[in-house]
Amino acid sequence: MYIIMLGAPGTGKGTIGNEICKKYNLVHLATGDIFRDEMKRKTELGMKAEEYISKGELVPDSVTIKMVEGKLDKLDNVLLDGFPRTIPQAEALNEYLNKTNKKITAVINLNVPDEDIIKRTSSRVICSNKDCGASYNTIFMPPKVEGICDICGSPLIKRKDDNPETIKERLQVYYKNTKPLIEFYEKMGLLESIYINIYSETTKEDTTKKAVEIIEKRK
Ligand code: AP5
Repeated sequence: MYIIMLGAPGTGKGTIGNEICKKYNLVHLATGDIFRDEMKRKTELGMKAEEYISKGELVPDSVTIKMVEGKLDKLDNVLLDGFPRTIPQAEALNEYLNKTNKKITAVINLNVPDEDIIKRTSSRVICSNKDCGASYNTIFMPPKVEGICDICGSPLIKRKDDNPETIKERLQVYYKNTKPLIEFYEKMGLLESIYINIYSETTKEDTTKKAVEIIEKRK
């Protein structure tokens, strides 16, 4: 099974993707998490990625495509979170899937108004333990004990790119480079959108339920 999570920054790709992976036993391949781990370990790839991520820009396609394809080679059941993010990345993925006889099950597009995205990302905290990677929100989804991960007990930290200036840049980059993927996957007959407004009753559980209904219909 191949599931793609599409959406602007902070729409819940990681949060909902995580629930889907648990339910269907999928590997959660999140390009942002991979880059952050490489940055933390100060690898060559991490230092290159940091130049772009710190400014809210995209890591170049050539670097990202090579990195993802290297990981996909070993996987059959996967949820892609944050990839593809440009038309060339989506074309490269199609080519790779055709070559390896694999098929996309569904592309789940999460749609959240920009004002809510800014609130969500500025109040997000994540687990500092990369093997856990849980994400919380000090306003909308707080941990049981302030500053501590419910799951593994590690300290919670803020992401460096979750500051208002970088978030605005990430949103611009989304509109220019990633939003065109909605039409791309619509034309392939794979797109399913979920509309979320944090001021209505939409919780993590509601959104996960809708995503599961989509997968059940398409699998
Ligand atoms: P990445 O880590 O992928 O960041 P992003 O796409 O900007 O997405 P986020 O991780 O910010 O948000 P999310 O949609 O996962 O939301 P979350 O679940 O955390 O990428 C970072 C950077 O890496 C990019 O800017 C780029 O530079 C680079 N990069 C990555 N992939 C690349 C690629 N393919 N090509 C080139 N460059 C690449 O939720 C957000 C908040 O909302 C959380 O606090 C959460 O608790 C809360 N929340 C979630 N769901 C709900 C809900 N239903 N109700 C209430 N609160 C909720």
